[in-house]
Amino acid sequence: MVTNNEQLLGVIQVINARGPKGGLRAFNQEDELLITHFAEHATLALQRAQLTRTILLRMIKMAEIRDPKETGPHVNRVAGYATEIYLRYAKRKNISEQEIKRNSDIFKMAAMLHDVGKVGISDLILKKPGRFTDEEYALMKGHTLMGAKLFINKQSEFDDMAAQVALTHHERWDGKGYPGHVDVHTEEAKITDKKTGKPKGLKGEEIPLWGRIVAIADVYDALSSKRVYKEAWTEDDVLAEIKNSAGKSFDPELVDIFFEALPQLRQISERYPDD
Ligand SMILES: [Fe+2]
Ligand SMILES: [Fe+2]
Repeated sequence: MVTNNEQLLGVIQVINARGPKGGLRAFNQEDELLITHFAEHATLALQRAQLTRTILLRMIKMAEIRDPKETGPHVNRVAGYATEIYLRYAKRKNISEQEIKRNSDIFKMAAMLHDVGKVGISDLILKKPGRFTDEEYALMKGHTLMGAKLFINKQSEFDDMAAQVALTHHERWDGKGYPGHVDVHTEEAKITDKKTGKPKGLKGEEIPLWGRIVAIADVYDALSSKRVYKEAWTEDDVLAEIKNSAGKSFDPELVDIFFEALPQLRQISERYPDD
């Protein structure tokens, strides 16, 4: 499988069919034509997948350049934790191997892009070393909507998942998260909370699974890491906080799975140390 610019992408091995008497049948001209045609299609599909991947990795890099907190190791750890949690969740729910494989591949990329909407947040806020004022925090929350907007004209299942992750990774199981029931196009509330006058938060399973998983993975990593405005928490404190957040910030079943997966999560963390 060779591309237009002579790059070798792969090799297809074709095995001879058996003839009517059981012996091997030699390939004929028609076979050759068919196989060549098939190889051309397969090469194009592979090239397209490769190109998509490259563009996504560039988007991640772009977010990293804009936001010093959103480093390569952080993004890789969050994606690693999220995928591990999903795999265990899927096994519990008896999801088919085929679906697990398809979902985990695209989920890993989608999880890496959870904060890509930060490219739209002002440098004054993004690079501020101290804590945010209320007003700055309100602007910062907009990174969820901006991230979702990057995937708004959905071309694939991946776009759909990436939009869900970007939009809902700060929602809370108890409904107190953000951005809540908002129309991504107009940014207007679809359901307003009568008490606060703000969009009503998504609650429980209203939050897509992908957002619920990345929420835990992101917080686990943020607490465990040193940031400009804070030291890293000890592991005991981090775990106590996550346990305590079951049913508040996080889906209790996913918190359960998180603790079950802890040995693997520790390994992932060691694989991508902060530089
Ligand atoms: Fe975020
Ligand atoms: Fe993050």
